[in-house]
Amino acid sequence: MAQKPIMEVDHKNNGVNYMKVLIVFAHPEPKSLNGSLKDVAVQALKEKDHEVKVSDLYGLGFKAALDRDDFTNLENPERFNPIGEQLHAARSDGFSQDIKTEMEKVEWADLVIFQFPIWYGGMPAILKGWMERVFATGFSSDMFQGKIYDQGLMKGKKAMLSFTTGGPEENYYQDIPDKDPAKLAPIITENLKFSGFELVKPFVIFSAIMLSEEDALSIFQAYRKQLNEL
Ligand SMILES: Cc1cc2nc3c(=O)[nH]c(=O)nc-3n(C[C@H](O)[C@H](O)[C@H](O)COP(=O)(O)O)c2cc1C
Repeated sequence: MAQKPIMEVDHKNNGVNYMKVLIVFAHPEPKSLNGSLKDVAVQALKEKDHEVKVSDLYGLGFKAALDRDDFTNLENPERFNPIGEQLHAARSDGFSQDIKTEMEKVEWADLVIFQFPIWYGGMPAILKGWMERVFATGFSSDMFQGKIYDQGLMKGKKAMLSFTTGGPEENYYQDIPDKDPAKLAPIITENLKFSGFELVKPFVIFSAIMLSEEDALSIFQAYRKQLNEL
């Protein structure tokens, strides 16, 4: 009679744990540098047997503005209170379907990669809106119950920023003498940490507006290498 193995080994990936990765992609042009970086990530991660899902926010026509339509069953329709309604919806399965679909992907993921260009000092509005609506209070964090930072509801998940800038590196590192890329985009990283995410090293391309084909190829190689080292 065949013996059951004492320890199950994942032969598919030589015993190395694979990850479920969600890439949240925010750029209107699939052929842009950001679009290509998203494609490089999908390919590199799949080659290493990771599972990958992509939320292409422009492709989905994702609604950026948080409003009453985010909720199927308002607790107080007389006076719309965004944070109160998010908490209520989280407790009563009351989010609109577009939000629920994204929440399911986030719940599924071990790692969430955000791929975007810097526009006016931060994320494109469509991605900011995705964060406001999907990382709802009661879903990603709950400050009323102390579910923040290392108790945040996203505890155990990792997040990574991959972004491009028009401005040169020196502009961004003016106040960061050690040039640690993890210190860039502090408002975004702080919000992710607030929800309990562990941040992994970001991938940042500066001066991304006038790149030669050669530059682009070496960028793709560098990104591939960084993802392989995850
Ligand atoms: C609306 C808009 C706002 C921008 N704001 C900034 C900015 O604040 N800082 C910056 O470094 N680059 C800024 N840029 C330049 C973009 O970051 C740059 O075009 C992008 O990173 C290039 O990537 P892509 O080829 O994938 O679009 C802005 C571009 C646009 C269209």
